[in-house]
Order: sequence, then structure tokens, then C-alpha cells
Amino acid sequence: MATYKLLILPGDGIGVEVMAEVEKIAQWFTKEGIAAFEFEKGLVGGCAYDAHGKAISDSDVALAQAADAVLLGAVGGPKWDGVPYDVRPEAGLLRLRKDMQLFANLRPAICYPALADASSLKRELVDGLDIMIVRELTGGVYFGEPKQIIDLGNGQRRAIDTQVYDTYEIERIARVAFELARKRRNKVTSSEKHNVMKSGLLWYETVIALHARDYKDVECEHQLADSLGMQLVRRPKQFDVIVTDNLFGDILSDIASMLTGSLGMLPSASLGEVDQKTGQRKALYEPVHGSAPDIAGKGIANPIAMIASFGMALRYSFGLIEAADKIEKAISSVLDKGLRTADIKGEKGDAVSTSQMGDAILAALQTA
Ligand code: IPM
Ligand code: MN
Repeated sequence: MATYKLLILPGDGIGVEVMAEVEKIAQWFTKEGIAAFEFEKGLVGGCAYDAHGKAISDSDVALAQAADAVLLGAVGGPKWDGVPYDVRPEAGLLRLRKDMQLFANLRPAICYPALADASSLKRELVDGLDIMIVRELTGGVYFGEPKQIIDLGNGQRRAIDTQVYDTYEIERIARVAFELARKRRNKVTSSEKHNVMKSGLLWYETVIALHARDYKDVECEHQLADSLGMQLVRRPKQFDVIVTDNLFGDILSDIASMLTGSLGMLPSASLGEVDQKTGQRKALYEPVHGSAPDIAGKGIANPIAMIASFGMALRYSFGLIEAADKIEKAISSVLDKGLRTADIKGEKGDAVSTSQMGDAILAALQTA
């Protein structure tokens, strides 16, 4: 049985609660002889700031670099609203993304039929929805320099963020999208705003050229990001794979996630380039949802996004496709049985707790 080294970074708020459920599930796979996991634990976000004044320590970054995969819960909370910008909780997550060069963020938005009524859209618009958002994660306005606030000396200040993309950054993320589309419904929608942004224009031209050169067999369309936002709530099932930059991807993936009923359902994978020698790639898996300070510590958070993120690690980092399918089946089956955490409960019935949901998924794994 192969052994995989996992770095666990539960982070803040509900991150800690949902991560505990993943540990149960990982142990089950080991007990069944499917794969063994070595856990190391670290701190990221506000808890890391409390412990050593930084959003992540150099030694935890080194552990992340050395791990076969990193699992991250969530970062942030009002407790750290006043901390200096460079050490705010989000800085820990951004440093991991940048230092590990995790340029490809995969955010699937899948609507489980049992949850179609929890969506804010009509059931027929979202039932069976299966979109993959591919978000560029190490470039654009998140990291572009200059990034600063200047005092103009006349009582005014000026804030600058820089949106910057090089051809290679656009090509490598578009390749990820085209390759994924080939294994799905063979369609890519590329999104930017080339009508107002130079970076959008380079994005648009680069994707057109790459498509013509290497991916003619894949259907490729282009939508301006504002229009794509509108189409996502108008007729979401028209999409298969969407590829877009860091900021638009952040926004559009939150919209897409809500179509599925709850932010508490959606996992994500952040992947680096495949190493030609080893065939391995750096990877971090985390739910799309945040630390949810309003419900943190109550034991009512939905652990499904975190558990499904672990499922993505099995699929994309370890090639354990059957095991990943098992997790997805187990999640579907508990939803079919009517089990709901508070976020997906709707008007009727009782909500189960975080650990009850985790235990139910564990029980469903035995039969999946
Ligand atoms: C996300 C989050 C992060 C982002 C924050 C926490 C920095 O919203 O992963 O979508 O903006 O990328
Ligand atoms: Mn976000």
C-alpha cells in the first residue's frame, strides 16, 4: 500500500471543524488497505499570526513544499481585522499559492440533484449542472507590482493595483482548461474583458492562437466577464469548462458555487506544473468557502466541501480514481437520504451537525 505525506493546515474558524471530518475519512481508507496517509500539521492564517506573528511560518511553507499534497481548511476572521496588511490571514494562503507556484485552480460547480431546490435558481436551470471553473491563481492583480497606496501630500491618497499577464501564464492555464475539456464535454469558454483591458486583449489573442495551434478538436468560445456572470445565472448549463484570470475567477466561482445550493458544497484543487522527471505536481486542496466566523465553533458547518477536496487530492495527486469516485458516491447517497447541514436544509426538517454529516459519509463509504 502506497503512503502519501499530507500536510494538514486547518486554519481558522470552521476550517478546524471540517478538517476533523477529513481525518476520519482518510483513516478509513488506510484501514481498508487502499492507501496510507502520513499527517503533518501546521498553522496558516490568523492562528499562525497568534502563534508567531506571521500568516504562515517559513518552516510550514517548507513542509508544504515537501508534502505530496496540502489540505487547507480556511483562513481569516474579524479577530484579525486590525493586523498589519502583510501578515493578515489571507497573506498565508497567498504565499502558499505563490511559493508553490500553484497556478491552476480547479473549482468544480456540481449540483447534486437532491440539492437542486436549495439553489437560488429554479430547479430546471441547475439540476444536473456540472461546470469546471479553471482560475489562474498566481498572476494578475493579486500579485502584480506596483501594489501600493501613496500619500499625495494634498490630503489625497492614491491606490494602485497592477493587472499583469505574460503569454506563458495565459498559455499554461488555457492548456489545463483544454486538457480537462477533452475528458468532459469538450467545450471551453474563455473569459476576460478585452474590450477595456490590455491584459484581457493579450488573454483573448493568446487563447485564440493556442486553440488554433493545439486544440482544434475542442470547441472554444470567448465571453466578456460581465456577460459571463450574467449567463451563469441565466442559463448555467451551457458551460462545460470556463477559464479565466485570478480576479474574475474569484468572483465567477463564487457565483457558480451558489448555483449549486451552498458554498459549503464546493471543493477546489490548486495545482502546479507537472515535473517532467517525477511526473508529480505540487498541490493544495481547499474548500471554496471561507472560515465562516459567524458559525465557527458551533459544530454546525457543512464538511462536504472539505471532504470533497480530499477526494480531489485522491484523484489529482494520487491517481486513486476509484477511491475518489467512492467519496463522491458516498456524498450523493447521504444527500439522497435527506441528511442536511444547516446551510442546505431549506425550510423543512432538522439539520445534522458537522460530525454527524462526517459520520454519515463514513458509513456510506462502507457500501459505496
Ligand atoms: C478564494 C478566497 C481568497 C481569494 C482570499 C481568502 C484571499 O476568496 O480562495 O476564493 O481571494 O483568492
Ligand atoms: Mn474567493
